[in-house]
Amino acid sequence: MLLDDAIELCAPRPGALVVDGTLGRGGHAAALLEHGVHLVGLDRDPEAIAAVRARLGDAVELHHAPFSRIPEVLAGRRADAVLLDLGVSSPQLDTASRGFSFRNDGPLDMRMDPSSGEPVSEWLDHTDEATFVDVLFKLGEERQARRIARAVLAARPLRTTGALADVVAKTVGRGDGRIHPATRTFQALRMVINDELGQLDEVLRTVPECLAPGGRFVVIAFHSLEDRAVKQAFRALAGDGAAVDFRGHPLVTPRFRLVERRARKGEDRDPTNPRARSARLRVLERLP
Ligand SMILES: C[S@@+](CC[C@H](N)C(=O)[O-])C[C@H]1O[C@@H](n2cnc3c(N)ncnc32)[C@H](O)[C@@H]1O
Repeated sequence: MLLDDAIELCAPRPGALVVDGTLGRGGHAAALLEHGVHLVGLDRDPEAIAAVRARLGDAVELHHAPFSRIPEVLAGRRADAVLLDLGVSSPQLDTASRGFSFRNDGPLDMRMDPSSGEPVSEWLDHTDEATFVDVLFKLGEERQARRIARAVLAARPLRTTGALADVVAKTVGRGDGRIHPATRTFQALRMVINDELGQLDEVLRTVPECLAPGGRFVVIAFHSLEDRAVKQAFRALAGDGAAVDFRGHPLVTPRFRLVERRARKGEDRDPTNPRARSARLRVLERLP
C-alpha cells in the first residue's frame, strides 16, 4: 500500500540518516534498511518497538516515543528523510486486548501507548454530550453524531468494545451493510484518545526544520482531515499562494519545494483494499 512509492520518494542512499516515525511492524523500516541507510525509528506503541527489535535487531536506532518528539530524538542531527505512515497498524486493530476493534470484543481502551493517557472508557465517563457530538462530527464524519452521543452517554459506564458497538448499532441500525455502523464512532474515539491531529500539527511545524538540505518529508495519511493538514502545511512551506512581485516572482524565497504537486493515491495501487483506497502520500523537500 504505497510502500514502494514511499521508499522511492524517501530517496534512500547508503549512509543517509532516515527517520521512520511510525515503525508499526517494520515493513517500511526493513525496505529502507536494504538501501544501507542509518535508520532512526520511533513508535509510541511499546509492542511495535518490541516487534521491530525482534525483526530487525540492532539495525535500527529504536525510540519508544511519539513522533512529535522527533526533534528531541534527532538532538541536532539533520535527517535526509522523515517518513510517517499515519494511523493504526493491523496488529493493533486485530488484537482484542488493545480495544481498537468492534469485531473482537476487548477492553474499551484504544491507546496506542497503553502506558500514558486515559482509555476510551474513562474518557467517556467524564465527557459531556456537546464535546462528544463535536468529536463524532469532526473526526468521525458521523452524520448521526447527536443520536449516537446521547445513546452512548446514557449507557455509561461502558467497559468493552462490544458493548459500545452494540449501543451504536442499536441506535443507528445496520445502515447499508457496507461498513459496520460503529466504524466512524470507533475512528473518532481513537483519534481523540491518541490526539492524532495534535501530533500531526506538531510534526508539520517542527520536522521541516530538522531536514538536511535536499532532505525529504514523506507523509501517508488515511483521513481527509489529516491529508488536508499535510497539504496546507506543505503548500505554505513551499511558498504556494505567497506574495509575489509585479513579475510574479516570490517576495520571500521559499526554503522548501513540493516534490509532486498532487498526492499519490492508494486507490491507484490497490483499488480493492478499503484501507488502502483512502491513502494519500505527499512529499516536501528542503531546498539546498
Ligand atoms: C500504519 S502503522 C505503520 C506501519 C508501518 N509503516 C509498517 O511498515 O509496518 C502506524 C504506526 O504508527 C504508530 N503511531 C501512530 N501515531 C503515532 C505517533 N503520534 N507517534 C509515534 N507512533 C505513532 C502506531 O502505533 C502504529 O504502529
